[in-house]
Amino acid sequence: MPTCLIIGANRGIGLALVKTYHLHGYRVLATSRTPSDVLESLAERTFTGIDVNNNDTLSSLAQQLHNESIDVLICNAGIWDDESIESFNDAKIMHVIETNALGPLRVVKYLLPRLKTGSKIAFITSRMGSITDNESGGRYSYRMSKAALNAAGKSLSIDLKDRGVAVIMIHPGWVKTDMSGQNATIKPEAAARGIIDRINELTLAHSGSFVHQEGESLPW
Ligand SMILES: NC(=O)c1ccc[n+]([C@@H]2O[C@H](COP(=O)([O-])OP(=O)(O)OC[C@H]3O[C@@H](n4cnc5c(N)ncnc54)[C@H](OP(=O)(O)O)[C@@H]3O)[C@@H](O)[C@H]2O)c1
Repeated sequence: MPTCLIIGANRGIGLALVKTYHLHGYRVLATSRTPSDVLESLAERTFTGIDVNNNDTLSSLAQQLHNESIDVLICNAGIWDDESIESFNDAKIMHVIETNALGPLRVVKYLLPRLKTGSKIAFITSRMGSITDNESGGRYSYRMSKAALNAAGKSLSIDLKDRGVAVIMIHPGWVKTDMSGQNATIKPEAAARGIIDRINELTLAHSGSFVHQEGESLPW
């Protein structure tokens, strides 16, 4: 039975990924910052207190997983902020960049020994990280963080090719979660199904790509 690990899985897209991988017959391992009954009822193993901005908690996660071999690692945890050029706050911008760009890279650093030939890493990014696609401006911290995440994912795809580990950056669509609100267009379960389809299709040949969960290739 293949094993997937979802980072940031107690609500939104992460929780939908847990439910959908469970239905697909995967052994699902999941992390959250706070305990979650629903997560515990669905996942084979849950790890609480895991904060992508805290190296100690990631080191502890790696220790707890020392007997596991991970087929699919999904770095889903992320935060949103919106600010104007007149009023932005340095510390808040750095916090978004740290969480969305550095956080996933830290996760990979600690969990690399748990990945093997044929394993896959998916970063849940955003098309807001696309410079070419930016037609509405603003959203400085979020756009910068996801552009940086995409750059990290591309480098990882090159660095991990010899180990046989493929990497993909996936935009989930505009999804009805706490982050985007109920005016968004699709349910988390629909996003999760598309994300899983893209991960299933992923091979080393197109490792490092940036795609919409519906399959469209996105511009950098
Ligand atoms: N929703 C959309 O339309 C949309 C569009 C494009 C991209 N995305 C991306 O999709 C991913 C999931 O978003 P969502 O819509 O499901 O958002 P969400 O409902 O707000 O969920 C965010 C998840 O990330 C976790 N998280 C936040 N900061 C964390 C940290 N420092 N360490 C560990 N976990 C942390 C949250 O945990 P807590 O409950 O502890 O806060 C929560 O589980 C994000 O990367 C987001 O940028 C979403």
